[in-house]
Amino acid sequence: MKTLSLTRPDDFHLHVRDGALLTMVIAHSAKQFARAMIMPNLKPPIVTVQQAECYHQEILTALPPEATFKPLMSLYLTEATSIDEIKKAAHSDVVYAFKLYPAGATTHSDLGVKNITSIYPLFAEMEKQDIPLLIHGEVTDEKYDIFDRERVFIERYLVDVHQQFPALRIVLEHLTTAEAVQFVSAASSQVAATITPQHLLYNRNALFSGGIRPHYYCLPILKREEHRLALVNAATSGNPKFFLGTDSAPHTQTMKENTCGCAGCYSAFGALELYAEAFERAEALDKLEGFASFYGADFYHLPRNTDTITLVKSAWQVPDNYGNNEINIVPLAAGSTLQWRQS
Ligand code: NCD
Ligand code: ZN
Repeated sequence: MKTLSLTRPDDFHLHVRDGALLTMVIAHSAKQFARAMIMPNLKPPIVTVQQAECYHQEILTALPPEATFKPLMSLYLTEATSIDEIKKAAHSDVVYAFKLYPAGATTHSDLGVKNITSIYPLFAEMEKQDIPLLIHGEVTDEKYDIFDRERVFIERYLVDVHQQFPALRIVLEHLTTAEAVQFVSAASSQVAATITPQHLLYNRNALFSGGIRPHYYCLPILKREEHRLALVNAATSGNPKFFLGTDSAPHTQTMKENTCGCAGCYSAFGALELYAEAFERAEALDKLEGFASFYGADFYHLPRNTDTITLVKSAWQVPDNYGNNEINIVPLAAGSTLQWRQS
């Protein structure tokens, strides 16, 4: 049987929620990844180091007893974040980054930033403290078409932020467009990006295949095929600016299948298998290890992991749902066949 061994990967963009949902999903990530950058968009959001420490502990408590998984915490930036909190975060053992959500851009982002230039003093302090800024790069103004919001964000805001704060490490999260690939590729080595499995595997047709498909709805939304191809090229190029961040974002089936369904795809059940599928289709399985296991750690100045995980080529069908008596989640790619499986 064909096998593929990789240095154990890290997930640099992950939502694990809290409470019963956390307990249900965390084992999936812990089985594949050594570490994950945990997103802070809880209700209420994680805005202080102290809250991050509590949330960190809650995640550790929810892990299966044998797991060695390390949550890397991020703090949710608001216009009320203080310079002092940035200093505290830079010296913290659990916090590794700040996350910028433009207000209203996505799930639980209502407390996000309305006026980006108003927090330039915070960017200056982050630059000084050398703590990375993670960005959900979409404008939120309804006057912009949903498919253009990433491109417009880059033009209107990101170009200036990078110019004003050239030493600030920036991760443009979950890239979805050729323009984003172009921006990140052309920027200095302080700028990197994560790419999700859904944006490598699907274009926007997946949202409307025979009817409306809420389990393929995430933000930023899937784009045209030409953009998917640009993302596949970036991810499989061996360019260390592009690395793995699943954006696995679990919502219960009822929250997704709803008159106003939530954005977010659940991929943690088989994240590496989904990426392997995309890389194999691009005939670039040899580029998976750099993308999944090296470049993110290098960008964050973390040691590379030393143990390995193995995938075997053995087709399997993604279940229709994951869950227990309390919770039901429909995963990304439910019902479809994947070629690789973690052994
Ligand atoms: C994320 C979520 O549900 O928290 N949803 C999503 O569609 N990606 C939020 C986010 O990362 O935008
Ligand atoms: Zn996310």
